[in-house]
Amino acid sequence: MSVHVIDHPLALHMLSVLRDKRTEPQVFRQISRNLATLLIVEATKGIRSTIQMIETPLEPMQAPCLDQRLAVVPVLRAGLGMLEAALSLFPEVSVGYIGLERNHDTAEAHTYYCKLPKLENCYTLCFDPMLATGGSASQALSFLKAQGATDLAFVSVIASPEGVARLAEEHPDVEVYTTCVDRELSDKKYILPGLGDFGDRLYGTE
Ligand code: PRP
Ligand code: URA
Repeated sequence: MSVHVIDHPLALHMLSVLRDKRTEPQVFRQISRNLATLLIVEATKGIRSTIQMIETPLEPMQAPCLDQRLAVVPVLRAGLGMLEAALSLFPEVSVGYIGLERNHDTAEAHTYYCKLPKLENCYTLCFDPMLATGGSASQALSFLKAQGATDLAFVSVIASPEGVARLAEEHPDVEVYTTCVDRELSDKKYILPGLGDFGDRLYGTE
């Protein structure tokens, strides 16, 4: 497994805005969407394309065109903050949903929803902005593999060293794309310095 950290000043600036506790949900949502755009562009670098014949207004040419179906699967609810970016970039994308919620005391994730398209032959991106213990990500990736996904990447806004290590152990075939691998997890399994609870920041809940 490789971890691809987006090394772009704009991405890092947007991450700083998300981290800032003064950032209100309206701006948080907008920046999440924009940062997701940069992450998705990077994460789809490996999607298959073929050369096809087209005609420009001046002459025929052989042009590269995408040749692989893309599927994206946001992990509810925080992953929804990244979905709009994928829909804009790839209007024909297939979308699945996995609902996972961490128990506040144990930090163990349990599944409450799963609706997935067929994923054989797809390039599949799983979205969850926070890769903390890696429990949610690992469960989500197992669901995607059970649905036929083989060409898989996981896209997060922030990762922790523990989460990265867990995915390397449990899903060594999955590439991870993120903006930053933060320092550590707190006693309550929150990412430090992190940005708090992504879902709460996105939707203004507590
Ligand atoms: C958050 C986040 C991830 C998970 C990460 O979801 O969006 O899904 O925690 O933690 P982990 O790596 O330790 O599993 P949360 O359970 O808070 O649900 P929410 O998105 O509905 O707020
Ligand atoms: N989920 C979040 O939203 N934030 C964290 O720091 C860890 C898990």
